[in-house]
Amino acid sequence: MALRTRQDIWRIDEWDPILVWYARAVREMQTRPIADPTSWRYQAAIHEYRRAFDPLQQPADVAPAAAEQRRFWSQCQHSSWYFLPWHRWYLYYFEQIVAATVVQLGGPEGWALPYWNYSDATNPDARSLAPEFWAETMPDGSPNALRVEDRNFGNDGAPVGDSADTDLTCLTEPEYTADATGGSPGFGGPKTRFSHGGGPVGALEATPHGAMHVAVGGWLGGFNTAGLDPLFWCHHANIDRLWVVWRNSDAQHVDPADPDWLDMTFGFHDATGAVVTKRIGDCVDTTALDYEYAVTSDPSLPPAPLESVQITEAPMVKRIPEMVGASDRPIELTTQPTSTEVAVTAPTGPGLESLEAPGATPPRVYINIENITGQGHPRRYSVFVNDVFAGILPMFGVAEATNETDEHPGGGLQYRLDATKAVQQLQAAGNWDPTTMRVTFVPDDKQVGLESMSEAPEPRFQVGRVSVYFA
Ligand code: C2O
Repeated sequence: MALRTRQDIWRIDEWDPILVWYARAVREMQTRPIADPTSWRYQAAIHEYRRAFDPLQQPADVAPAAAEQRRFWSQCQHSSWYFLPWHRWYLYYFEQIVAATVVQLGGPEGWALPYWNYSDATNPDARSLAPEFWAETMPDGSPNALRVEDRNFGNDGAPVGDSADTDLTCLTEPEYTADATGGSPGFGGPKTRFSHGGGPVGALEATPHGAMHVAVGGWLGGFNTAGLDPLFWCHHANIDRLWVVWRNSDAQHVDPADPDWLDMTFGFHDATGAVVTKRIGDCVDTTALDYEYAVTSDPSLPPAPLESVQITEAPMVKRIPEMVGASDRPIELTTQPTSTEVAVTAPTGPGLESLEAPGATPPRVYINIENITGQGHPRRYSVFVNDVFAGILPMFGVAEATNETDEHPGGGLQYRLDATKAVQQLQAAGNWDPTTMRVTFVPDDKQVGLESMSEAPEPRFQVGRVSVYFA
């Protein structure tokens, strides 16, 4: 099979055949019944399905048998080192199904899923939805299946979110897998078993991934409806591309070698509707799956991380993260800014030893926002240390991680923010008190003023604990 190239939506012509055929194939797939694995609704249900909240449910729907639903629906992997490879296989078979539909409709062979590069600093329109995704009609005047009404932002062509949502600091994460407790979130997330959600979120999964889900909102804001929006797949093609970008950007950036990761398998359906079982180790090279991305470097990469300016003699010591402080009561997040004080003590254990090693680099500081639970529409919060911005909480998947299910106890999400730069900035300005840290959560103004959310119940989020780690 020839190598397919996934193109940047903003770098192809307006209504390029790639998008015309995507729209036609979506329309066709939407006519197929939900029990057909190649239907639009079945494809979205693979991510998550909740009948009571299915916006497209019909009284005449005949769902697949319960055993089939258990095996193939609500499978998406989140808060997990499986996040990237699971979504890679998911997109791969979706792309095969769309491509076969294109051919069936009389289109060309080799259709490839285009990606939305919202972080492209060389493109002033990067954060806007391309016009093909919100135009009412296609060039031939027929209704445009790429437009979805249920989006909170983007259907007017205005930029979605802000630069914090498209920030690529995740690409500077040195390791794929998160520290077991407290420290780096890892580029790809924590080592888990099958994980539909809940727990610590990897750096890429948090931002830009979760941030852009929430910035567009509507169907994209929930696991169970996200795949119904054609934009979802182009968003995820970009996330999948960023995995390649991360790997290409530094020889130290490597995927897990752990058989628990490499040998994990997931089930999907191919374009003929046949069941396929796929291993993670077989998807790490995209060219083995016959696709590549038009661009796999990123000119907008943030400056090199602390590790790369490290002294050369000392072997790179991987510090064991040590907790140096934690808040003592749960925190309620509302539409108003909320603060908590965290008493910080000097590290005493492994953290201290490695800090005192000759030539040691200053500690990296991680703020862990633990056991985030809540219902209602996800809403982004910005986090400040004293008065310095330290990162965002996109809140994608919070409601899903709050409901108790078979798979997880409903313990909520956890974000780990790298506050090293914020702390260094405070130190440089003489505003750093090593015994206490004030952590402030500020809701996103634009989302607070959003009218379409006014009838929705007031979102309330609880944070179980804020802890601070040095690593
Ligand atoms: Cu499984 Cu972007 O979500």
